Amino acid sequence: MAAKKHPLMVWIDQRLPVTSAYEKHMSKYYAPKNFNWWYVFGLLAMIVFANQILTGIWLTMSYVPSSEEAFRSVEYIMRDVEFGWLIRYMHSTGASMFFLVVYLHMFRGVLYGSYQKPRELIWLFGMFVYVAMMAEGFMGYILPWGNMSYWGAQVIISLFGAIPYIGEGLQQWIRGDYLISGITLNRFFALHVIALPLVLALLVVVHVLALHEVGSNNPEGIDIKKHLDKNGVPLDGVPFHPYFTLGKLPAVVIFLFVFCGIIFFYPEGGGFFLEQANFEPANNLKTPPHIAPVWYYGAFYAILRAIPSKLGGVIMMASAIAIMFVLPWLDRSPVKSWRYKGILSKLAIVLFAIAFCVLTYLGTAPATELNTLIARVSTAIYFAFFLLMPWYTKIEKTKPVPERVSR
Ligand code: HEM
Repeated sequence: MAAKKHPLMVWIDQRLPVTSAYEKHMSKYYAPKNFNWWYVFGLLAMIVFANQILTGIWLTMSYVPSSEEAFRSVEYIMRDVEFGWLIRYMHSTGASMFFLVVYLHMFRGVLYGSYQKPRELIWLFGMFVYVAMMAEGFMGYILPWGNMSYWGAQVIISLFGAIPYIGEGLQQWIRGDYLISGITLNRFFALHVIALPLVLALLVVVHVLALHEVGSNNPEGIDIKKHLDKNGVPLDGVPFHPYFTLGKLPAVVIFLFVFCGIIFFYPEGGGFFLEQANFEPANNLKTPPHIAPVWYYGAFYAILRAIPSKLGGVIMMASAIAIMFVLPWLDRSPVKSWRYKGILSKLAIVLFAIAFCVLTYLGTAPATELNTLIARVSTAIYFAFFLLMPWYTKIEKTKPVPERVSR
C-alpha cells in the first residue's frame, strides 16, 4: 500500500512535479540487476565534480586573478589561509581524479558497447562533457601563474597558430593580447570559474536525462526492456534507489580513502598532479627545460609530437578527439558487450587500451628518439582501433547473447 503523502508535499506536487521526478529518476528508475563495479564511475564523476565546484568557490575567495598577484595569492592560500592548503590540494588532486574516473567511465562504455543504438546521444553528450573538461582543466592550470602555467599556455595557444591564414589572428584573439599576459589570465579565470562549469553542469544533466530516456545498458549488453512484468516493470531491473545508491556506497568510501590518501600524503603525485616547474612564478624569459602537460592530456600531446610537421600534428591531435565522437557509427557489431564480440574486437580493445596508456605516459616524458618511435606505433594503433572498427566488427563471429540477464 502506498504511504500517504504529507499535505505539504501534495501542495508542492500540484505546482512542481517533485515526487514524479524523484520516482522517474530514482525510486522507479529500473537499472539492470547485473551492474558491476564499472558502473560506479558515473557517480564518482559527479562526486568529484561537486568537489571541484565547492573547493573552487572557496579558492576564488582568496585567489587574485592578476598577473602581478596570482602566484603570490596561491602561496598565501597555501600558507596563511586556514585550511587553504587542504582546499587547494582537494581541487588540484580533484582535477586528476576527475579525469581518471571519467576515462574509466568512458572505457566501460567501450567494453560494454554502451554507445550503441539507442544510446548514441548519451555518448555524444558525454563527449561534449569531455571536451569541456579538457578546456576547463587547461584554463585552471594557467591560473596559479607558475612557470609551467605560462609555458604550457604558450605551447597550446601556439598550436592555433599552425592553422593556415587565420592562425595568427586566432592566437591573438584567444590571448586578447600580442603575448600571453594578465589579460589572458583574466579571461581564462572568467571562463574557468563561470562559463565552463555552467556548460559542464548543463551537459551532465542532459547526459543523464538522455540515459534515463532509454535506460542503462549492462555488462551483458542485454536489453532488459524486452521482458516486462504485468505492470510494465523490467523483470531484470531493480529500482535505482535504494538498491544502487546504497550498493555503490562501499565503492564510494574506498574511492574517498584513495582520494584523501593522495591529498594528505602525495598531493604532487610525483610531479604528475602538480609539476615542479609550477612552484616558480611565470617567467617569459625562462623556458622550463622540459615542457610537459599534466598526465590527463598526455595521450593527445604524444600524438601531436609524434607527427613531424606542426600542422600535421595539430590535425592528428584534433582528429584523435574528433574520431571518438563518431564511435557509435563505427561499431557494426550485432552485439554490444565485448563478452559476446569476436576475438578481433577483444584484441582491438586490449591493444587500444595499452596504446592509450603508453601515449599518456609518453606525453609527459621527454621526446627521445625511442619515445618518438613508440609514440608513432601507439598513434597508429589508436587510429586503427577506430578506423578499422567497421571492418572487424562486421566480419568477426560473435557469440549468441542470452535472452535474460543470468544473475
Ligand atoms: C562529468 C562527467 C560525467 C558524469 C558526471 C557522468 C555521469 C554519468 C552517470 C551518473 C551515468 C549513469 C551511471 C553509470 O552508468 O555509471 C552515466 C552513464 C553513461 N555515460 Fe557518463 N558521465 C560523464 C562523462 C561521460 C563521458 C565523457 C562519456 C563518454 C564520452 C560518458 C558516457 C556515458 C555512457 C555511454 C553512459 C551509459 C552507460 C551504460 O548505460 O552502460 N559519460 N554517466
